[in-house]
Amino acid sequence: MSALIKVGLIGLGRMGRFYLSEMQKSGRWEIAYICDTNPATRELARQLSPASKVVSDEREIFNDKSVQVVGLFALANSRKEQIEKALSLGKHVISEKPIADSICGEWDAVIAAENSKLFSTVNLYLRNSWYHKRIKSFIEKGEIGELAIIRVCHLTPGLAPGEGHEYEGPSFHDCGMHYVDITKWYAGADFKTWNAQAVRMWNYKDPWFLQCHGTFENGVVFDITQGHVYGQLSKDQTHNSYIDIIGTKGIARMTHDFKTAVVELRGVNETIREERPFGGKNIDRLCDLFADSIESGIRHPDLPALRDAAISSEYAWKFLENARQNALPAIGELDTLEKIRERRRTMKNGYGLLQQRQ
Ligand SMILES: NC(=O)c1ccc[n+]([C@@H]2O[C@H](COP(=O)([O-])OP(=O)(O)OC[C@H]3O[C@@H](n4cnc5c(N)ncnc54)[C@H](O)[C@@H]3O)[C@@H](O)[C@H]2O)c1
Repeated sequence: MSALIKVGLIGLGRMGRFYLSEMQKSGRWEIAYICDTNPATRELARQLSPASKVVSDEREIFNDKSVQVVGLFALANSRKEQIEKALSLGKHVISEKPIADSICGEWDAVIAAENSKLFSTVNLYLRNSWYHKRIKSFIEKGEIGELAIIRVCHLTPGLAPGEGHEYEGPSFHDCGMHYVDITKWYAGADFKTWNAQAVRMWNYKDPWFLQCHGTFENGVVFDITQGHVYGQLSKDQTHNSYIDIIGTKGIARMTHDFKTAVVELRGVNETIREERPFGGKNIDRLCDLFADSIESGIRHPDLPALRDAAISSEYAWKFLENARQNALPAIGELDTLEKIRERRRTMKNGYGLLQQRQ
């Protein structure tokens, strides 16, 4: 048995709790510290993890030489400094995305990571999903011919403007950067051209729906549709999330209901339908790959790199910027947005609910 890996978690909101729970379940981690600036959250931390030292000042974690890994799950405004500090003090880093609250900051974080021998990764969780891995290996076998078109859609009644995550940017940046990343991951090339259309739903200052299409350097064509605008006030909420990949000979697609993902593969030799648990944010997988890397001393190739997060974030911003040049209409009223926020404040079970603010 290897020794437990000693970790300090910073930020115990919605995401931080997912990490805490997965690390506790895996039995590979000693959660030495939990840091949160919110007193009520620290109280919760003491209940959830009685053996951890619960602190309000992250310096206690950074100054403890025995802490091997820091988990950065607060908000984007604190992350660049935390990444730089952790690496300079000899600690490996598991970071949430985005890795900073500005493009410059993100590239500074990438430079710090790439100049260090320590391991760092970022939760671009789609890369660790069974369904995208399955589809990619089907494509790599040549089953759909040449990859030509990647169509991605993610529409949910999720995080509304003004509820939190302000440093993470509008919906297409905060959530959409995952879809920018996975589209590029499939294409295996750099973005070449793009044209984006967005709408300022409910007359909010920023767009909360955006659709972008364009090309990659290798000629592959893409379209990405993302928005947290999908029927927030409907009596019974739903969502629409899929990927649809078209080759010169066959297709591969996936859809999910957040519980089960269904992959359908129509290749030249094989027709396959696979239905398996969705897997949520795949944090168990990310933590396992990271623990494997620390134990073996060899970085696992499936770990997303900080560079991947900087690139997808930068393109998400570019697509938002492009949308601002294309009319950017406003539809609806701020009153409706207020009703949405009110409903979400009292919801117990909804899409992307943040912890209640105390
Ligand atoms: N990879 C993904 O799929 C995914 C999904 C959702 C959120 N996220 C990212 O995770 C991060 C956290 O999101 P969340 O939904 O958990 O938010 P949240 O608001 O629920 O939690 C943030 C927590 O951090 C604490 N905090 C804020 N600043 C702090 C600081 N300087 N030091 C210590 N604690 C601090 C807050 O008190 C809160 O408990 C965001 O940056 C978001 O972009 C990623």
